[in-house]
Amino acid sequence: MVAKDASKVCLTIGSDTVEVTALAPDLFRVGYFPQGRAVDYSFVAVIAQDWQSGPVAIVEKVDEVTLATSAATAHLSLDPLRIGFTDHAGRSFALDDPVLGMGCFTGSGEAPVIGVPSRSETLGMPVRVHKQHLAGEHYFGCGERTGELDKTGTRQIFWNVDPPRGQTALENNLYASIPFTLVLAEGQAWGFFLDSTTRVEFDLAHDEPQRAWFGADNGDLVYYVFSGPTPADVLARYTELTGHTPLPPLWALGYGQSRFSYETAEEVRQIARSFRERDIPCDTLYLDIDTLDGYRVFTWNPVGFPDPQGLLAELREMGFHAVSIVDAGVKVDDQYAVYAEGKARDLYCKTPEGNDYQNVVWPGICTFPDFTNPETRTWWGQQHAPLLDAGVEGIWCDMNEPGLFLPPNSTMPPDVVHPGGGKAQLHIQVHNSYGSLMAQAAREGLLLLRPDRRPFVISRSGYAGIQRHALLWTGDNSSTWEHLTMSLSQLQNLGISGVGWAGVDVGGYYGDSSGELLARWTEFGIFQPFCRNHSEKTTRHQEPWAFGEPYESICRDMLKLRQRLLPYLYTLFEECHRTGAPILRPLFWAYPSDPATYSMDDEFLCGDAFLVAPVTRPGVEHRHVYIPAGSWFHWWTGTRIDGPAHILAHAPLGQPAVYVRANTAVPLWPEMNYVGHEEADPLTYLLYPFEGSGSATFYEDEGEGYEQLNGFYCRRSITSDVDGGNIRVVIGEQEGKSVPARRHVRLELREIASEPKAVHLGKAPATWRYDAEQRRLFVDLHETASSQLIHVSME
Ligand code: GLC
Repeated sequence: MVAKDASKVCLTIGSDTVEVTALAPDLFRVGYFPQGRAVDYSFVAVIAQDWQSGPVAIVEKVDEVTLATSAATAHLSLDPLRIGFTDHAGRSFALDDPVLGMGCFTGSGEAPVIGVPSRSETLGMPVRVHKQHLAGEHYFGCGERTGELDKTGTRQIFWNVDPPRGQTALENNLYASIPFTLVLAEGQAWGFFLDSTTRVEFDLAHDEPQRAWFGADNGDLVYYVFSGPTPADVLARYTELTGHTPLPPLWALGYGQSRFSYETAEEVRQIARSFRERDIPCDTLYLDIDTLDGYRVFTWNPVGFPDPQGLLAELREMGFHAVSIVDAGVKVDDQYAVYAEGKARDLYCKTPEGNDYQNVVWPGICTFPDFTNPETRTWWGQQHAPLLDAGVEGIWCDMNEPGLFLPPNSTMPPDVVHPGGGKAQLHIQVHNSYGSLMAQAAREGLLLLRPDRRPFVISRSGYAGIQRHALLWTGDNSSTWEHLTMSLSQLQNLGISGVGWAGVDVGGYYGDSSGELLARWTEFGIFQPFCRNHSEKTTRHQEPWAFGEPYESICRDMLKLRQRLLPYLYTLFEECHRTGAPILRPLFWAYPSDPATYSMDDEFLCGDAFLVAPVTRPGVEHRHVYIPAGSWFHWWTGTRIDGPAHILAHAPLGQPAVYVRANTAVPLWPEMNYVGHEEADPLTYLLYPFEGSGSATFYEDEGEGYEQLNGFYCRRSITSDVDGGNIRVVIGEQEGKSVPARRHVRLELREIASEPKAVHLGKAPATWRYDAEQRRLFVDLHETASSQLIHVSME
């Protein structure tokens, strides 16, 4: 039976229901609800509800129904049911496999095993959709993967775990699950997202080269198809569906120092003083579990931290922000108020017999809040009040897969019950959402407790949509060169899975780092959206000075560069917030038609302007770099390279292979050691002009609070045109109502071969200086809301 409304076709086949809905011109949702299961799209990933599909033409024939939007068409052939898509340029994508299609998998050899077969009636059978793997299609994304960028030919598991120490790239399933893939073929992108919080598996043409399948171990099959056709289009729609990364407080972009643990207030003070005395930038200090009283969350260790308020006030005075850890497990202890209140209100997960489910984590025996219950989330959010009152400014959600110690590296059994405040579900059904729901509770708590502040929440675990609650850090990596290598693709994979704000522990967590590894990792770290150095108990300390010279100076120089780059990075964060564009991007993001970029996972773009190719081997000063199309300037020497080209870059310690795109302005602050240390005046626009043209955007606002929503921000474009050697730079008129406090603006044009004949600001001569030795031209400007045209005449 076929029923339809304005944008949806609904098929009833026996006791199964299949719906195909056009949500937006480039977004379709397919829902398969087998065996009489109710239609339900209420999963935690999806935030957007009010969709505008535009006009949808639904045409019904004897054996086919089509839904056509202004951009794409869903084709449903009815006997047997097969679903596929085309766009208006004639491209086919996401075509059901003609033989296998979509359905339940009822225990054939291929069927995934589910943990609790006796409950399969409530849970539903394993469900899958088989899609054709069309010639030339490459799969990317899949969230937090340390393996290579191109996922074609692989199996991907989605089931949040706390993996054993020292995982390799073989372990493609880590702390967070984002069952999303971006598919590229001949420069055209489409996207696929399977929305299920149970165990999910993707076979990306692994078993058979002509076929991919996407399956959930139980429940319904709900998937979304994005028609693109650019990677940016796919990510824009995906992050509209699952939520945008909020604008962070500006200080959160600075460098953070962490350690498991700085064990006393005196040690924390000592670390803070060392940063300032050694003139090494740092904005944030992380307080790990030894700050707590017997590892009880939301408490303070009375011996090591007798006066947290005093300590945090001192840190603020020195320009530091403190972030405190909060684990998911609550110590079972009747004398402990948090535990007792959660118990009295009955907010913990249950055993099938109805007792509180208990397991061992850091504090010993713990219970676990049922974050699927909105009441639990509100209650949990309120628990953050004493931390904020003491001066904590950010919350670090940890162990939230949940990661359990009995047995080691385990998680909750599948039959643990989440009462859900009336909508009980088994753990197996909600597992992958536990971390996201905890992060949501923290963020919403912070928002209620400090409504004028932007919450800063960091999470280890998460599900699709985690980006709207928290930044994701990739958990416990190792201080090895292999892990440095793996983290390059890992952050790119996350970026194209909607998680723009992410970072790995700089220097590595497990095991001893070394001076060289830390220095190389910091060279990469300054381009990570989240830049924090963290290490495990008993390992060698790895603060930037821990290994002496030359490493300390290298780390200092790198972190100073990060601090100078904050206006550039903040502009990227705003773009990410608005459009879903990643901050740290694979090369194919900008060059989808260049297949050479599909496998270039040891280098990346940071925004439009920077190409970064970290050195990830010891004792190595040279490496291969693929320079994509366009003209690029080497950051250290100014040498120009025209891509596409494969080059051997010389990248001695302290001079990573970094290139800046021609005609793309980079806004820079003066050197400073933390946000607010000094007035950010002047602002420098750094630019490498070259024959041709280019443009960039610069966005700024208060860096805190919400006044940008009332128009108090400042956005402008900077364009650069070079014609016959003469350079024309236009700093565009300001959009937005903010009036920047600074008075001075400087244009720094690099690689100017000879002294210009004249430099004009509008029609008048400009104030300028040419440094022949460095081949740099500096033009002094004033801050103004109007547009400024700078003209450099070379002859
Ligand atoms: C977990 C976290 C790690 C933290 C440790 C102690 O292993 O991933 O970052 O230091 O717990 O809290």
